[in-house]
Amino acid sequence: MKTEAELRHLLSEMTQEEKIAQTTQVIINYYQKTGTEVTGPMGQLGIKSESMKDLGSVLGTAFAEDVIAIQKKYLAENRLHIPMLFMTDVIHGYRTIYPIPLGLGASFDPALVEECSAMAAAEASANGIQLTFAPMADYVRDARWGRVMESFGEDPLLNSTLCAAETVGFQGRDGDVSKPDRIAACVKHVAAYGGAESGRDYNSVEISERLLREYYFPAYKACIDAGAKALMPSFNSLNGIPSTANSWLMKEVVRGEWGFDGVAISDWGAVMELVRHGVAADRKEAARLAGENECDIEMMSSAYYNHLAELVAEGIIRQETLDRMVLRILRLKNDLGLFDDPFHGASPEKAKALSLCEAHRALALRAAEESAVLLKNDGVLPFSTEVKKIALIGPYASEHAIIGQWKARGLAEESVSVEEGVRRLLPDTEILTATGCSFLWDDLSEEGFAEAVETAKGADAVILCLGEPDRYSGEGKCRTDLRLPGAQEKLAKAVSTVNKNTALLLFAGRPLVLTEVEKTVPAILEMWFPGNEGGNAAAHLLFGKACPCGKLPMSFPKATGQVPLYYNRPSTGRPKKKPEGVYEDFTSNYIDCGNLALYPFGYGLSYASFVYSSLTLDKTSLDPDGELTVTVRVKNEGSVEGKETVQLYLRDLVASTVRPTQSLIAFEKVTLAPGEERDVVFKITEPMLRFYDFHCVFRSEAGEFQISTGCADRLILTKTFTLTEGRS
Ligand code: NOJ
Repeated sequence: MKTEAELRHLLSEMTQEEKIAQTTQVIINYYQKTGTEVTGPMGQLGIKSESMKDLGSVLGTAFAEDVIAIQKKYLAENRLHIPMLFMTDVIHGYRTIYPIPLGLGASFDPALVEECSAMAAAEASANGIQLTFAPMADYVRDARWGRVMESFGEDPLLNSTLCAAETVGFQGRDGDVSKPDRIAACVKHVAAYGGAESGRDYNSVEISERLLREYYFPAYKACIDAGAKALMPSFNSLNGIPSTANSWLMKEVVRGEWGFDGVAISDWGAVMELVRHGVAADRKEAARLAGENECDIEMMSSAYYNHLAELVAEGIIRQETLDRMVLRILRLKNDLGLFDDPFHGASPEKAKALSLCEAHRALALRAAEESAVLLKNDGVLPFSTEVKKIALIGPYASEHAIIGQWKARGLAEESVSVEEGVRRLLPDTEILTATGCSFLWDDLSEEGFAEAVETAKGADAVILCLGEPDRYSGEGKCRTDLRLPGAQEKLAKAVSTVNKNTALLLFAGRPLVLTEVEKTVPAILEMWFPGNEGGNAAAHLLFGKACPCGKLPMSFPKATGQVPLYYNRPSTGRPKKKPEGVYEDFTSNYIDCGNLALYPFGYGLSYASFVYSSLTLDKTSLDPDGELTVTVRVKNEGSVEGKETVQLYLRDLVASTVRPTQSLIAFEKVTLAPGEERDVVFKITEPMLRFYDFHCVFRSEAGEFQISTGCADRLILTKTFTLTEGRS
């Protein structure tokens, strides 16, 4: 490792061209064996092949062989022997794919998230990847946005906790990313990319500073506090200024308040997009705006490469600014140990041994089981393993593409389909399949219905496998209709009408509107995109070899028109008082469907039966220097072992600004054997009661607070206490 003095000395030896090359990232044609030429779009952007030896980082390589070849060739040619840095998106696995982040969010389990990202880091790093563009810490409320699949959902505490765990998983508990099985984390997309108006990707975001600070910022900050080495500003404009050029955001908040001194890397083409946003007249001005903002690396455009030298020579960008940017990049390379081992332990043999190895598959299976959410169960699940004939109906019955978007080097064909999972679990049982219909929105054909209905009729258990195709969620994949696409709703009705022993398995990258389906299907199990082991996990859960324990990280609306829908909504002056569905004039309510979610945040059933018998506080008034103990007693009155996430919600009854009707302030997942009873203990302290007031001061106010357990919109066992004095 180099010392800081050595790094500064290295910087002092660099020419201006060499410095600027460090700020430039090149994408080498994906999957190209020894991609040593700048071809394709980067070539068209004016990056010359002769500059390759000096360029700072490479995006999108896939295999150890490529990285070793590229690094060897250019390191030898680079005058000062500065290694390149290899980055890519490792979002939910590298070769072994585990559930999409929204699915993992349902696990409410930071330890599991950490284990999964550590596994991804080991596989990625063996394949030559040194930095991942993750965690995506974007807070979300709008299921139309295709990238909700990459997020941990609509609660800032859950989002922050899991994002921090993911960061630690990638970088290791001691944050020493020079170790070969670690990769650096790049938290993205700062800020409020998930707040895109109308849920349309890349759209502008107008959110008050108060809301930004309370809901959108905490998870980014949690990643930085957990040691994330890099950060990516978002594509979107935030209150009028694209993040890449937003100096309030990047300089005052991120570098100033949050103390982030790692590398900031633009999103794909985002510097040049400043021209399309209309805040820069040309690419030179775009380079000026991003450079002044100390966005250290430019991804997938060439404004720095072509204009930074000129801008510094003209005195528009200060030399010290450029030097600071380059020094940060050198520090990151040094932290990764690249000056000692430029390959960071990349090894084709190691990559092969780790990819989809038994231990990794076992973790992916556990993660898929813990992410599934049982949304409805009228008693049909778990199915008996004694059934003689099983019908698998629907477009997902034998489908392998259940790993979702952002799958790095994961392959659909290496994943276990539902059919394979069920056959593996019950090799002697008769299993019939019928597709029934397609999952494409423009294919409304019902031609396969008759066969599906016939197949279902004669079966002892029917597994309906429905959802949206994986390409309907992810970047740029936004939808205005959140119902099951195509003729699937009708298929669900037709099949469950002829056989009551039917359970629906759902595959999707977002909350779907299940209002119609829910009316006829007796059981619904949300699988999200569960990863390589999805089919095994589904079989285990359906037949009782595993017990569902996921809780929703995002509310499932009753109708698309309800979105953005989120449980932690502010109080209004006209709350709905009558029960849902009862029409009452002049309240804040939709007359045709009500306000509540079909399935709210925090909701999820189990085969065990959890009974909450008491919630007690050790005192009724909290001193700001003190601590209040909340005890929730929960018992498993069922006949199988299960896991329950005990949730604690807070309501600030009177405050100087309108507060949410409920906010999650703590949670803990516990395992209870049949008949076992447990006291789950939470501590409440004054800082947990703080909020951003009208002037964006983070403080608490004296007064009464309500504490409840249960889940959002279905709170139980409420108690109140008083905070004796506010603090800031
Ligand atoms: C664009 C996406 O917005 C970002 O999340 C990703 O990291 C980059 N492309 C690189 O693939």
